[in-house]
Amino acid sequence: MDKYEKVIELAKRRGFLWNSFELYGGAAGFYDYGPLGSTLKRRIEHIWRELYIIHEGFMEIETPTIGIEEVFVASGHVSGFSDPLCECRKCGEAFRADHLVDNMIDVADALSNTELDILIKDNDIKCPECGGDLGDAYEFNLMFRTAIGPGSGRAGYMRPETAQGMFINFQRLSKFYRDKLPFGVTQIGKSYRNEISPRQGVIRLREFTQAEAEIFINPHNKTHPNFERFSGTLVNLYSEDGQERGTIEQITIGDAVKQGIIAHEYLAYHIALTNHFLWRVGISPDHLRFRQHKKDEMAHYAIDCWDAEIETDRFGWIEVVGIADRTDYDLNAHAKTSKTELYVYIEYDEPKMVTNFVVKPDMGKLGPAFKGKAKSVANVLKDMTREELEQDVIKVIVNGEEFIVSPDLVKFTEERVKVSGENVVPHVIEPSFGIDRILYCTMEHAFNEEMVAAQEETGSNKSKDPKKEKRIIFKLKSEIAPVQVAVLPLMTKSELIEPANKIVAVIRDRGLLVSYDDSGTIGRRYRRNDEIGTPYSITIDYESLDDKSVTIRDRDSMDQVRTPIENIGNLIYELVYGEREFKNAGVPV
Ligand code: ATP
Ligand code: GLY
Repeated sequence: MDKYEKVIELAKRRGFLWNSFELYGGAAGFYDYGPLGSTLKRRIEHIWRELYIIHEGFMEIETPTIGIEEVFVASGHVSGFSDPLCECRKCGEAFRADHLVDNMIDVADALSNTELDILIKDNDIKCPECGGDLGDAYEFNLMFRTAIGPGSGRAGYMRPETAQGMFINFQRLSKFYRDKLPFGVTQIGKSYRNEISPRQGVIRLREFTQAEAEIFINPHNKTHPNFERFSGTLVNLYSEDGQERGTIEQITIGDAVKQGIIAHEYLAYHIALTNHFLWRVGISPDHLRFRQHKKDEMAHYAIDCWDAEIETDRFGWIEVVGIADRTDYDLNAHAKTSKTELYVYIEYDEPKMVTNFVVKPDMGKLGPAFKGKAKSVANVLKDMTREELEQDVIKVIVNGEEFIVSPDLVKFTEERVKVSGENVVPHVIEPSFGIDRILYCTMEHAFNEEMVAAQEETGSNKSKDPKKEKRIIFKLKSEIAPVQVAVLPLMTKSELIEPANKIVAVIRDRGLLVSYDDSGTIGRRYRRNDEIGTPYSITIDYESLDDKSVTIRDRDSMDQVRTPIENIGNLIYELVYGEREFKNAGVPV
């Protein structure tokens, strides 16, 4: 078994992840989260909310997961959100054409379908399932289409990203933030993509959870007000140039901006914040890098994008977060399609004197000359430039009809006026997190196996060496562990069960996730909790009744300390949130 198989086996057995629709044979691209998986996911989302909503102050909204067609026509998803598909001519199985040549070329998803066809033919690539010949690649739109309402209904799509719900609420959001830039908005929710051949567990799902922030900023000022906070943060950058050279550079965020590796402070700040979040949930920094998109792989809406990529055992480097500069692309697209202006008025620090070119059509003369069309002609004239108006004959087109206007029918002047601001279409910086992929990576990075002395209590010894047994430890960070502390009465006797239950209640009151476990030997219970990642176990034994103390066991070191019951709630809280080291939690046993 490779690490992926081991993690998934454990995840299924212990109630983290289950194949959806298992009772009916399952369906690729869908996973259920069991009791521990759901809790783990919520813990990860909780930290995301803490950083983005509480700390950054980006309020959360919730919009429908089904969108009407207009939204995705405007956003470009109807025409352009597709992957290249090629089918086996023999067995009919479908494959992502770029994935078939992934190991031959650096950025396979930047190739055209013709280039993919040539690579597939030249390298004699056959169907991975049956060895049959593959057909030509063609574009397959990844959105799930649906109908809204009965009958033919109105066309709708399951959203492929949460972002659009935030863009189309721009006017209301801007008002909410009193029309002041910058402001940020977040949304955590399901997105849907009809992935062509999802064979990578929760890494490629057809229904998955995104946590996205859209940060609307002044396009003329991409410096970040709190940049200092992260300027010294070290990150692993795999820039476009670095990819050419094959080098990943470890550099501070501040230097990366100074040296022009990252285009501006806003992008850099959000790369650092992503780095911080991934560290908080337990991703090992040695297996994390930020890879800049090459020009030819950039999404249609972005001018720059850095992916947080995590190294995994089976799949290599996988993208878990995309941090993009989406510019004013989406707001302009929705403004154009909805025929609504989407901008904010930005006041200058100091009013400016500007020269305005003012056209004054002479309605007294235009009226008799153009009758009912005079007003339309005048409106076109008002938008013309000095150069256009300084011709001997002025040509005006109204609804495709040409009118010749004599220069004496229109006057123009230049006026010096004081202006105190301007209308600006904000640019958008977007960190887009895939929570399922991050969750899988936290599990893989936390998964450990070690050989330890066989515990008498377990009575099991599956290893060949009679004195050793395998211990599986899920070294999840205690902040995200779905069970943060297990309370274990040594025996199922009422005199131990009662104080154990009291301890459970006290710790729950501190807002921690506690499990009460009294089945099996104590050794087996320790192993079970090691496997689900419980960082601390508390054992209540007969001595506890006399000395009013309990034993706390640390998952990773297996060290134990004896500590009074009196302060147990606070103590466990401090351990879980890193406010106290385990060695200071009591007297070593
Ligand atoms: P990929 O190239 O791997 O398909 P992507 O570039 O399409 O990913 P984005 O469109 O940038 O991904 O989506 C933002 C984030 O959403 C990704 O970083 C990823 O974590 C998550 N994500 C995207 N597609 C899926 C999926 N099919 N299953 C699970 N998570 C996904
Ligand atoms: N919102 C970015 C993406 O999902 O592609």
